[in-house]
Amino acid sequence: MNKNIAVILGDGIGPEVTQQSIKVLDAIGRQFKHTFEYSYGLMGADAIDKTGNPLPDETLETCLKSDAILFGAIGHPKYDNDPTAKVRPEQGLLRIRKELGLFANIRPVTTYPSLHHLSPLKNTRLEGVDFIIFRELTGGIYFGDKNLSEDGNQASDNCVYNRSEIERVAHLAFQSARQRRKMLTLVDKANVLETSRLWRKVVQQLSSQYADVKVDYMFVDNAAMQIILNPKQFDVILTENMFGDIISDEASVIAGSLGLLPSSSVGSKLALFEPIHGSYPQAAGKDIANPIGSILSAAMMLDYFGMLKEAAMIREAVGWTLGNSLVTKDIDPINFYFTSTIGELVTDYIINPDHQKINKHNVELRKSTII
Ligand code: IPM
Ligand code: MG
Repeated sequence: MNKNIAVILGDGIGPEVTQQSIKVLDAIGRQFKHTFEYSYGLMGADAIDKTGNPLPDETLETCLKSDAILFGAIGHPKYDNDPTAKVRPEQGLLRIRKELGLFANIRPVTTYPSLHHLSPLKNTRLEGVDFIIFRELTGGIYFGDKNLSEDGNQASDNCVYNRSEIERVAHLAFQSARQRRKMLTLVDKANVLETSRLWRKVVQQLSSQYADVKVDYMFVDNAAMQIILNPKQFDVILTENMFGDIISDEASVIAGSLGLLPSSSVGSKLALFEPIHGSYPQAAGKDIANPIGSILSAAMMLDYFGMLKEAAMIREAVGWTLGNSLVTKDIDPINFYFTSTIGELVTDYIINPDHQKINKHNVELRKSTII
């Protein structure tokens, strides 16, 4: 197969982690006889610095011509503490979601036994944790009318949802539940918010089309607590934009490192794949960031292309690195490997049909000696 991938390296550690995914995709291409072609576009602080615009039109055009988008990270501290800044890197990400109609953000939360010690939760709470969050991504309070009064002393953000926005993401979540443990939890605030009551009504109605899926409903404040107390109880979580933003960051720490988790943002025609971590500016250019979140996002992209064996191969290679303590500094601050080395190790595993033969000595040589 031949696929055109739009690549947006973005800010901070975005470029260095995305480059590892490209190495890995090329290795998959070589092993499975696919051709991946890459076209690059700017977005975020990088794009503001170079063009004044957080999402130049050329980037959107490049994305529209592609089969999928691979994205690094967004954000720069120089914009974070200035509430008066007119242009912000994040506007690029919000606009690309809206313009490309990427209405569902999908974040799987998986735990690895070899990393249980890094999780803030006790081991007994971690075994068997495997859930996936479907977050609505192009509606709600993020995109409703915003107002600031003339005297600057009153502000409002409007939260609006309509039935079709809820239905399209709910269908994806129900379909995913069908392939999994057949449980779906709608997270909302229906005791207070009118939009949440509409979500409940629509999801209740849709549930009759998915009679094999058990649906339950949970208020977001309780869900925030349950994700920590008993994360095993969840299979598929469905929620609106803002609640999804918050609980998906909360859920991400369960795995032990934010650097491990991938995500996809899908629409009816296109999809974008990105690690869930941010731009981590303090680490930019140091070759120490964890590329696994990005590499697993590339695996999600292959699933989206229908290349299931190929995606499984990436996950197997990642499992091999984590299981053999071939990890970056966020996971092991003393015996760590560099970002680029992890990319090479995952690549070696994929192109080496007999994985046992990977030369352990060479692997050792690539370990950092910097403490
Ligand atoms: C995310 C991020 C974004 C969001 C920011 C960068 C605008 O936190 O993808 O979760 O709030 O959606
Ligand atoms: Mg977020």
